[in-house]
Amino acid sequence: MNDMAVLETVDIEERNRQAIEILRTNDRGGYNIPTAGLYPYQWNWDSAFAAWGWSEIDLARAWTELETLFKGQWSTGMVPHIIFHEVDEGYFPGPNVWGTHKSPQTSGITQPPVAATMARKIFEKDPTAGRAPVERLFKAMGDWHRWFIESRGESGAIAITHPWESGRDNALDWEKAAEVIDTTNVGEYQRRDTSHVNPEMRPRKIDYDRYLALVYLGRDVGWDETKIREQSPFRVADVGMTFILLRACRDLAWLADQIGQPRKEIDTWIAHLEKGCEQLWNAELGCYDSLDLKTGKLSGTKSVGSFLCWFAGVEPRDSKQSLEGVLSRAPYSIPSLDPASSRFDAKRYWLGPTWPVVNSIVGLGLQEQGETVLAERVRKDTYEMIMQTGFYEYFNPMTAAGEGGNNFTWTAAVWLAWVTKGLEQ
Ligand code: DGY
Repeated sequence: MNDMAVLETVDIEERNRQAIEILRTNDRGGYNIPTAGLYPYQWNWDSAFAAWGWSEIDLARAWTELETLFKGQWSTGMVPHIIFHEVDEGYFPGPNVWGTHKSPQTSGITQPPVAATMARKIFEKDPTAGRAPVERLFKAMGDWHRWFIESRGESGAIAITHPWESGRDNALDWEKAAEVIDTTNVGEYQRRDTSHVNPEMRPRKIDYDRYLALVYLGRDVGWDETKIREQSPFRVADVGMTFILLRACRDLAWLADQIGQPRKEIDTWIAHLEKGCEQLWNAELGCYDSLDLKTGKLSGTKSVGSFLCWFAGVEPRDSKQSLEGVLSRAPYSIPSLDPASSRFDAKRYWLGPTWPVVNSIVGLGLQEQGETVLAERVRKDTYEMIMQTGFYEYFNPMTAAGEGGNNFTWTAAVWLAWVTKGLEQ
């Protein structure tokens, strides 16, 4: 059977069956890998989305996913972006390069804190069954959020110290800020990602050189946050990270009310972040933007992170017009970078492709804030891409071609938990 014939025979039930199979196949016992080969470990925000997907078929397993994630939490409260449960030579940089000396082994940086939002979603499905897991996770989630505010919240918005922390590695938001990173000591290394995926769909070599330079800098100062802040040339207030943390704090405060825990401190974080978001408004661009904390300059980038303002519950100002402009330039929304940008590249990771996982949280936000037409456009485009092509990591926003890794956990998860919910039948 050729590919076209496969396409013709696929229906929604078949995609549902495949999504469940992907969750089960990528299960490594208490946690999911994003996809075999390219990402063979537990990734932080992938795992939170995996939990949301699991909650459609197995609530207990969903809670286990989050509990396994927090087994990697550091005593500082930080929850690392990768937990290396079992070493796999197919990924670079592995645990020895990070040199964090933790058990379980982990990377030294974090990732967007979606966990509290997903914990709320899972809790809402069965508050009785969810009470005990939320009671177990509550302190850990709060410690992580406090760590963000104290270690990364000096501007009011949330700083990333490495592009990988954003989850949007090569987004244009910080390309300029990253140009000052000295890569002369990086030396030779062998990338593994480009042996799994077409190199045109991955960050460039210069990006990887900078990623590694920052890993070596962090390792050399023992992953000490104060020293990183003093010594690193790279510190950017990420619009995506800030909005996701703000939303996660709102959800954590809601969970506090459900289980009878105090929310006062969480409310101070919410106020801090709400205020911090104001400086991210880029009036010239007509959307929220990332801010280089070393130069005080906004990046001038209309990226998908900007459109998480509804999800965060902040005043969208002119964001609706900006989003409508972006949607008018790509049939399969939401491209990770505005196609009007000279740097738009429909294939290259966060410089253009559409990511179903980000669509799910932008779409949730739009729906909650009453922007139902836009929300349904985003959901329907996501549905079309997955129906046409399958469960890829990301998609070409002009053609719906699948890109990056295939059989991807978070694409399967958001298919089950969001894409197919409330679709006009
Ligand atoms: C990678 O290896 O591409 C990841 O995005 C780092 O987290």
